[in-house]
Amino acid sequence: MADKTRYSKLQIGLHWLIAVLILATWWLGDGMGRALRTRMQENLSGFDGNTWHVWLGTAVLLLVVIRMIVRWMQGAPAPIAGQPPLMEKAGTWGHRLLYLLMFLAPAMGAVTWYLKIRAVGDPHALVANALMIVALGHALIALYHHYFLKDATLRRMTRGTAD
Ligand code: HEM
Ligand code: HEM
Repeated sequence: MADKTRYSKLQIGLHWLIAVLILATWWLGDGMGRALRTRMQENLSGFDGNTWHVWLGTAVLLLVVIRMIVRWMQGAPAPIAGQPPLMEKAGTWGHRLLYLLMFLAPAMGAVTWYLKIRAVGDPHALVANALMIVALGHALIALYHHYFLKDATLRRMTRGTAD
């Protein structure tokens, strides 16, 4: 990265797009148990019977894979200077957990739906709800940084570098 104090515009675009899509997918989860039963009973395959939950969730899965590749290629800016080491560690591990959950949640949904493995359905919903809780905590921490600690944490995820 050219500027090590901020994320790239691509990383920022993916972060916010994925956040909105995750929220929408979660919101549209109602009735998926019924949709899955219909898919099994009528022996539908491929994209037949896909709902908005499935389309948006599948988009999340693809975008998260792209995001992980971009992250691997471009890295992340160095932690904000002057933070206690414990806070820095919590940030690193919190972000790793978010990456894991935001990959696992749609991947498990896709296994349930496309491979018709019903047993993965409940764990999928559980992991998806865990993702929402961790993401909510993450958002509150970001706002705490911005409004109380008044550091650059939120700015580096809103004003990016060109690469
Ligand atoms: C970030 C992405 C996703 C989130 C946050 C999410 C969230 C949820 C939630 C909360 C439920 C439980 C809904 C309820 O019972 O009221 C659910 C169910 C379900 N989702 Fe997802 N989902 C995601 C991605 C996907 C994808 C990509 C697919 C399929 C390609 C999928 C397929 C399903 C199915 C089949 C169920 C019903 C499971 C069952 O009742 O056994 N989801 N999802
Ligand atoms: C579903 C919702 C969200 C998910 C899954 C998510 C996920 C992530 C992940 C994985 C990172 C680490 C980026 C990296 O190291 O490559 C990150 C960074 C960040 N996110 Fe989120 N995020 C979500 C919503 C939000 C919201 C609502 C806010 C603000 C209110 C926010 C603010 C930030 C900030 C400021 C950073 C940069 C932190 C730093 O540089 O230390 N995120 N997010």
